[in-house]
Amino acid sequence: MRRVLRIVIVALAGLLVLAQFVPVDRTNPPVEGDVAAPPEVESALRTACYDCHSNETTWPWYGHVAPVSWLLAYDVSAGREELNFSSWQNDDARRRQKKQKEIVETLGEGEMPPWYYLAMHPDARRADLQLIRRWAEASADSAQP
Ligand code: HEC
Repeated sequence: MRRVLRIVIVALAGLLVLAQFVPVDRTNPPVEGDVAAPPEVESALRTACYDCHSNETTWPWYGHVAPVSWLLAYDVSAGREELNFSSWQNDDARRRQKKQKEIVETLGEGEMPPWYYLAMHPDARRADLQLIRRWAEASADSAQP
């Protein structure tokens, strides 16, 4: 029994080492058309949302260690696909308005930022999400359909 346990542990350790060699895309593409919200809104967005919803992701040290790195890379690519503040100006008014409504909804439901992100980022816990919500609400109303 102890022999089996030892083999399992060694195998798992080996897999973990091998996992580090799987390439992970941690690139930050160029910023083309940043959201340019009012400074205090932009600052809250940067603190609470930019790591997953912009091309200015700050990758933490643990973001370089598999398998955590895979989860982070997935979040960033899925997050950017849904909503990317770095290419905000390039989106047409219709899409921006849709995204603003989604921002109001997700913030209202407390879905964003994800809980595990808040757990690792105390500064994001202090970010003024209401400010972001009011900004999104106001601009969603004023934007042309
Ligand atoms: C840890 C990464 C992460 C952070 C930080 C984060 N998000 Fe997200 N967000 C995601 C991912 C991944 C998705 C796409 C998958 C999903 O809907 O869960 C998403 C989806 C969204 C969507 C689309 C939801 C929908 O209706 O489909 C909105 C809007 C959004 N996020 C807003 C925000 C805002 C605003 C912030 C900052 C206050 C934020 N997010 C912070 C990862 C993140």
